[in-house]
Amino acid sequence: MSRLVVVSNRVALPGQPQTGGLATGLRAALKERGGLWFGWSGKVTRQDSGTLHEQVDGQITFVTMDLNRADHDAYYTGFANRALWPLLHFRLDLVDYDRSKREGYHRVNALFADKLAPLLKDSDTVWIHDYHLIPLGARLRERGIGCRIGFFLHTPMPSADLLAALPDHQRFFSTMYAYDLIGFHTRRDVERFQAYVRLYGGGKVLGGDLVEAPGGRRVQTGDFPISIDTGFIAQQARAAINKPAVRELRQSLRGRQLAIGVDRLDYSKGLPERFAGFERYLKRYKEQRGSLTLLQIAPVSRGEVAEYQMLRSQLEQIAGHVNGTYAEADWTPIRYVNQNYTHATLTGFFRAASIGLVTPLRDGMNLVAKEYIAAQDPEDPGVLVLSLLAGAASELTQALIVNPHDLDGVADAIATAAAMPRPQRIERWRAMFEHLQKHDIAKWRQNYLKALEAV
Ligand code: F6P
Repeated sequence: MSRLVVVSNRVALPGQPQTGGLATGLRAALKERGGLWFGWSGKVTRQDSGTLHEQVDGQITFVTMDLNRADHDAYYTGFANRALWPLLHFRLDLVDYDRSKREGYHRVNALFADKLAPLLKDSDTVWIHDYHLIPLGARLRERGIGCRIGFFLHTPMPSADLLAALPDHQRFFSTMYAYDLIGFHTRRDVERFQAYVRLYGGGKVLGGDLVEAPGGRRVQTGDFPISIDTGFIAQQARAAINKPAVRELRQSLRGRQLAIGVDRLDYSKGLPERFAGFERYLKRYKEQRGSLTLLQIAPVSRGEVAEYQMLRSQLEQIAGHVNGTYAEADWTPIRYVNQNYTHATLTGFFRAASIGLVTPLRDGMNLVAKEYIAAQDPEDPGVLVLSLLAGAASELTQALIVNPHDLDGVADAIATAAAMPRPQRIERWRAMFEHLQKHDIAKWRQNYLKALEAV
């Protein structure tokens, strides 16, 4: 078996807390077969970018690279998170077109290639992740790297017309033709990419999801929905019931139902709309008022970016308004918390919640939706209210599917979920849980790597 080389902007270094599904899945893949994990060190230094650090943990070698302030700001905060992130989430209105940030992004991708290329062997299988590193495959090819290189996009792939709004889009997206396999979360993402190839990318779409670049190079595309460690999360949630934070949360509800949302504080997550949908529910379902509390956990994310700062104050304002309007002396409708909790505690919170609210305006997949299902008590499961604009909606079809912009629809779904009889809840939950048992994180990486190695 060839050596696996994983490349991602963030690296889950040994001893660091688990940082979500992506890191968990990749770490498990590397643990299974050994290999190299290359990425940013998480450090912003005063010196030039490019200092490498090496750490070995069992069969995994971690090599990480420092970035200086200018490179970090142009590449990560700038182009990746102020241009690509909004573009890939269909938010053309938020795209920052600053050319120097775009150049900084390309400079850092070239530096990744300079530092990684000497570490690679012809027999390696290289797997590059996410929007931070789209051109990296092409930069490696320019440095003579001929081994198999796959790419996986963790965000949605938007419509071709949106991609074409990026200045220099052809030069940018044609770098994707350097890969052997490009993976997306859903069929719709694959099809939107293929539409871009046909309409703007100068290429052709052949049968079997192969695309042909203008020069004749062929690239395999496909959908590989990312997932979770279903069995582990179910077990973790069962055990978490005894954690003090979980017990205290249950006690504080004093018999009321709980609805929960857990999201990075990001405009793609639809948090203002969620609060407004909850307010609509309080307004229209007077008979349920006071019987359901919404706990929204939203750890601050990308706090240097202006749009994220604005979102934070907007949410504080809406939560204050809803609570000011509907709270009673012994009940607050929305508990809005920016603090982060350990993963184990969150699974206990999920199990304590009768409703999981996952209503992003756009999301590649959304693993919170899957974790909410895995964490439920099989005898008395809660109900998932899920946005049709999350990748997870194409798999978790027994959830109550909503349009997150349609506040009345969200309010109706909350009311329906709060009153759903137990047999119906069990039936819906069981179908989704069984799906997640079959399609877990191990399946995701095995399927992807099998497809990459078959190219
Ligand atoms: O695709 C989105 C993603 O890269 C996820 O893998 C991860 O959950 C999140 O964004 C992390 O964001 P950041 O690295 O900017 O904190």
